[in-house]
Amino acid sequence: MTTPKLVTANKFTSFNKNTAYVIPITKKADKLVIGSTPIETSELTKLDLPSLGVSAELESLVRVPAPNGATYALMGIGTKALTKTDLRNLGAASARKLSSFKDIVIGFETLDSEDTAAILEGAALGSYSHTAYKGLTKGVEIKLQTVTVVSTHKPSTASISQIAVIAESVNMTRDLVNMPGRDLYPESLAKAVQTAAKGSGVTVQIWAEDRLTKEGLGGILGVGLGSSRGPRLVKLEYKPKVGKTHLALVGKGITFDTGGLSLKPSISMLGMNFDMTGAASVAAATIAIAKLQLPIKVTAWLCIAENMPSGTAQRPNDVIKARNGMTIEVLNTDAEGRLVLADGLSLASEAKPDYIVDVATLTGAVQIALGNQYAGLMGDQEAVDAVKSAAEGVGEMVWQLPLDRKLRSLIDSDIADIANVKMGNTAGGTIIGGLFLNEFIGNRAKGETDDIKWAHMDIAATAHNEGAPYGVIPKGATGSYVRTLVNLAKQLG
Ligand code: BES
Ligand code: ZN
Ligand code: ZN
Repeated sequence: MTTPKLVTANKFTSFNKNTAYVIPITKKADKLVIGSTPIETSELTKLDLPSLGVSAELESLVRVPAPNGATYALMGIGTKALTKTDLRNLGAASARKLSSFKDIVIGFETLDSEDTAAILEGAALGSYSHTAYKGLTKGVEIKLQTVTVVSTHKPSTASISQIAVIAESVNMTRDLVNMPGRDLYPESLAKAVQTAAKGSGVTVQIWAEDRLTKEGLGGILGVGLGSSRGPRLVKLEYKPKVGKTHLALVGKGITFDTGGLSLKPSISMLGMNFDMTGAASVAAATIAIAKLQLPIKVTAWLCIAENMPSGTAQRPNDVIKARNGMTIEVLNTDAEGRLVLADGLSLASEAKPDYIVDVATLTGAVQIALGNQYAGLMGDQEAVDAVKSAAEGVGEMVWQLPLDRKLRSLIDSDIADIANVKMGNTAGGTIIGGLFLNEFIGNRAKGETDDIKWAHMDIAATAHNEGAPYGVIPKGATGSYVRTLVNLAKQLG
């Protein structure tokens, strides 16, 4: 879907027909009042706000007629000072709840140009809704084209276009992730990324099965065996004119995860078209980083396969060999993400980048550990700290889990170098996943040390929002952590 145009205006001039004007509502001495706003509100003072259902509750919204055929949208802003995250969420709620208007004008008080930028960013992120597959039941048509914030605190034209680039990359991620597995399969995901990268300065290589075999990518090939639609590896490269730091990104791109022969129960299989979120997120972030011309070298590796059961599928107890030479006993074909990432992390390590960050919908266990709002974060402390601070900067939430090396022996295999799961119980499933991935960084499997700083983000519980939209998060694919990755590149570059 398209992202609305973002505009600022120095001051309010007049009401335009069919335009919604967002007015802040707060409380003073327990009484509802209109908050400080640059928009003309004298008409509103006659109204009895409580009887209209108006509230100061954050993101609540009531519409009343405004002059010249315009509409007032009275939005609750709470009673405390607004943080950047609050403003981003209020911008998002405005755009989402008023998307049936072609134009909306937001009149919240801003203290600096960053406040204005946060409202605009929120509006660009919050207006998203997934309607591509609606037929006869589309509901209210989305018409939103322009969002204007009235404020003298104007972000520069350059920073507004940066916001638009980043929001478009989040929305592109959401579009890809929301696609059903029937329509998005390894080849079509690879092609969609190639198309999206055109003109961005990112070069794209797509490796099909012959190349995967030649390169020794036994993990991606093994997972892809069961599907009639073969696996792919996509390599994206962005080389800046200046900038020495090299960031490698690796994404899990399972276009549908049935579990393979270790078949998932039907309820757990629902939503498994989202299992390519990591790949879509690192691709979108790389394209955004290139469009912003950030001074950092970025290489992204998308590890793409469809995990299906069939007569050609890999079996439990099969042994595969990853790119780094390590043999893996596949005890559970449903722990496939770590098998494809084993190849991606090995490949990423070969160029000895400064940082590797992988992003994956890896374990159901992360939802039990952290719920649906925090991504699980593990790895080398320096990289973990960098991701943490990048996430904080954009209002996204991550939580570090302890990657205790003592647990590594739980995935010893009797016949191969490592097993892909721990048998017996599910304790610490997310950490076990992280410990498995660690083996494919540098030559760690051989007990050697390296200078690569690695972080792993388990986004299995945050990739998808099953509930109602909130803040900048729509229903369905969230697109979360694309902004964290772009901010990480900003901070490291
Ligand atoms: N794609 C799933 C993880 C997942 C679960 C993502 C729920 C989103 C929601 C992954 O491939 C998987 O199946 N993991 C197994 C690992 C287990 C076999 C060790 C899991 O979480 O059950
Ligand atoms: Zn799985
Ligand atoms: Zn999976």
